[in-house]
Amino acid sequence: TIHPVLLCGGSGTRLWPLSRKSYPKQFARLTGADSLFQASARRLSGPDYAAPLVVTGGDFRFLVLEQLAGAGIMPQAVLIEPAARNTAPAILAAALWLDARAPGALMLVAPSDHVLPDTAQFQAAVAAASGAARAGRIVTFGIRPDRAETGYGWLELDGPTDVTPQPRPLQRFVEKPDAATAEAMLAGGCHLWNAGIFLMSTTTLMAACATHAPAMLEAVRASVTGAETDLAFTRLAAAPWEGVDDISIDYAVMEKAGNLDVLPYAGAWNDLGGWEAVWREMGPDAAGLVTQGPVTAIDCTDSLLRSEAEGLELVGIGLKNIVAIAMPDAVLIADTARAQEVKLAVTRLKAKG
Ligand code: GDD
Ligand code: MG
Repeated sequence: TIHPVLLCGGSGTRLWPLSRKSYPKQFARLTGADSLFQASARRLSGPDYAAPLVVTGGDFRFLVLEQLAGAGIMPQAVLIEPAARNTAPAILAAALWLDARAPGALMLVAPSDHVLPDTAQFQAAVAAASGAARAGRIVTFGIRPDRAETGYGWLELDGPTDVTPQPRPLQRFVEKPDAATAEAMLAGGCHLWNAGIFLMSTTTLMAACATHAPAMLEAVRASVTGAETDLAFTRLAAAPWEGVDDISIDYAVMEKAGNLDVLPYAGAWNDLGGWEAVWREMGPDAAGLVTQGPVTAIDCTDSLLRSEAEGLELVGIGLKNIVAIAMPDAVLIADTARAQEVKLAVTRLKAKG
């Protein structure tokens, strides 16, 4: 049995104004009838899977339950972090909670904001990785890169990347490289992108943390031991959590551990890390146009026009390379090539209060 651990804590500021601090992108219906979170939970259900463990912040707890219920899924637990401390503490808390109930269980850690449309292919990849994970390896899932992306982790293989779906030993894990390093890795042909999905046993993760992040292990353990049940939720104890470092699993463990494998994954995968990625995922028409909601586009090319606001008609004329997103209380209009900069806009808006 594999225990899905769904991470559901990021705020997704690069998809503002659809994604908000109070309503991050994983809960929004971006590309289909399910939200990304619902699709992620469904992807990891079936005969080989236990009910999911969700790790999230207090603000989203009811949204999590509501959306799981909407997908017909009962969680094994919903762990509530006293404060967001990035992915390392969140994953470790899930491992400790799970290990106390199912010692040495296999856990599949997955983000809740990705698009992975082929469930059968993905579950087959997980099955192919499970022997290695049972034997004490941390298995990562590698995606063939098509650009020198600096926002991802890169996985260095022992030779050219083919996509035979068998675990291979990882030589080096490089989280968020600079542009020159990313260019070199792309050109070299021996690297895959890290999909941000990890299969390992609770024991393996705890041992890796004991070596590479011992203070975090102790603090998070105290938080899990002191956790309290509140309705359907498990609230991690706040006091020990205070001192926990804010760090991602990629920096805290993956760049340091020596027991990593890579399973090359050939299926479709999209991180939806910004509006450009949403545009690509929605399947632009021959003119490169994507429209959603009450939109009228006249002579527009290579653009994404979307209105989420009821009764708010969005009209574009002669647009090229434009992202226009209308929400009831905010409108974004940006050059497609610079749509990533909404992250900066969000920072500025916050400063304005
Ligand atoms: N519960 C919880 N608490 N979840 C969190 C927290 C937190 O404090 N911080 C982030 N998450 C969730 C996010 O919602 C997302 O689903 C997932 O953890 C990954 O976090 P991101 O912040 O989106 O990470 P990233 O995209 O910068 O990088 C990771 O993913 C890339 C692929 O998308 C890394 O693993 C990279 O190596 C990888 O390439
Ligand atoms: Mg991400």
